[in-house]
Amino acid sequence: MDSAPRTPVTAVIVVAAGSGQRLGYGMPKAKVPLGGDSILTHALRGVAAAGVARQICVAIPPGDPELHALCAAFEQELKGERGRTPGLGDGVQVPVVTIVDGGASRADSVRAALAALLPDTEVVMVHDAARALTPEAVFHRVSHALAAGALAVIPVLPVVDTVKTVEPTTGDGAAIAPELVTGTAPRETLRAVQTPQGFELATLKRAHEAAGGFDAGQAAAVTDDAMLVELLGVPVYAVRGASQSLKITTPLDLILAEGLLEGPLGARWVEG
Ligand code: CTP
Ligand code: MG
Repeated sequence: MDSAPRTPVTAVIVVAAGSGQRLGYGMPKAKVPLGGDSILTHALRGVAAAGVARQICVAIPPGDPELHALCAAFEQELKGERGRTPGLGDGVQVPVVTIVDGGASRADSVRAALAALLPDTEVVMVHDAARALTPEAVFHRVSHALAAGALAVIPVLPVVDTVKTVEPTTGDGAAIAPELVTGTAPRETLRAVQTPQGFELATLKRAHEAAGGFDAGQAAAVTDDAMLVELLGVPVYAVRGASQSLKITTPLDLILAEGLLEGPLGARWVEG
């Protein structure tokens, strides 16, 4: 008898509705070129290649015809008309692609996508398009934890820098430096958090409904989905992420991502 847990019906939400201010290209980050394609196309191919998704639901900036066209081209690619999706071979499910208008905040974009998931969806992964080179292995680790019963699971990496807390300097100190150190966080317990973050669908929906009552300050402090689930008191598990899953945020990150694509190890080599 097969004792392996059944893989639940999985949707992957790809949030791609941000404006990319810090990258500074004057266009939504999802559209920015990376290795001859767009950041969004790389992200979508990575999701498809992992083979975990029954549905891929992409949140793009409202009324952006170019990103809409990129998603449509990806859907055609999946259907084999261009046949370029790496890893989408025999035995890998071809996902349904759904496009939704994102919102003003990342959380709003996630909520818009949650409302568009297929009715039989059991678990959902929320993935940043900006983490365009996330290896398949990370999707698989998250998927396995969900299949094993986790209600919430996130990919993480150990923190390499020493991390301190600070506050703005006041009084005489202000003439010396802008900030004063208030403490040192215990590094061995700290983790840098990535995506895809995986959730039982009902749990993530409940977490986002609870966030509906947040004031502007609380809403601005929400930087990932797991945070909302933590507030419900639901245990959030952590699996190993990957350094290639870097969030392309600044021009330096884009240079790193280009280097990964051109490097001898290939775009989605699996670390260690
Ligand atoms: N995102 C989104 N909707 C928003 C804001 C962000 O879907 N209203 C998405 C981004 O497209 C990105 C991910 O959330 O894939 C992480 O956000 P971030 O890296 O901050 O991207 P941007 O918000 O586009 O960048 P910036 O903050 O520099 O403007
Ligand atoms: Mg942002």
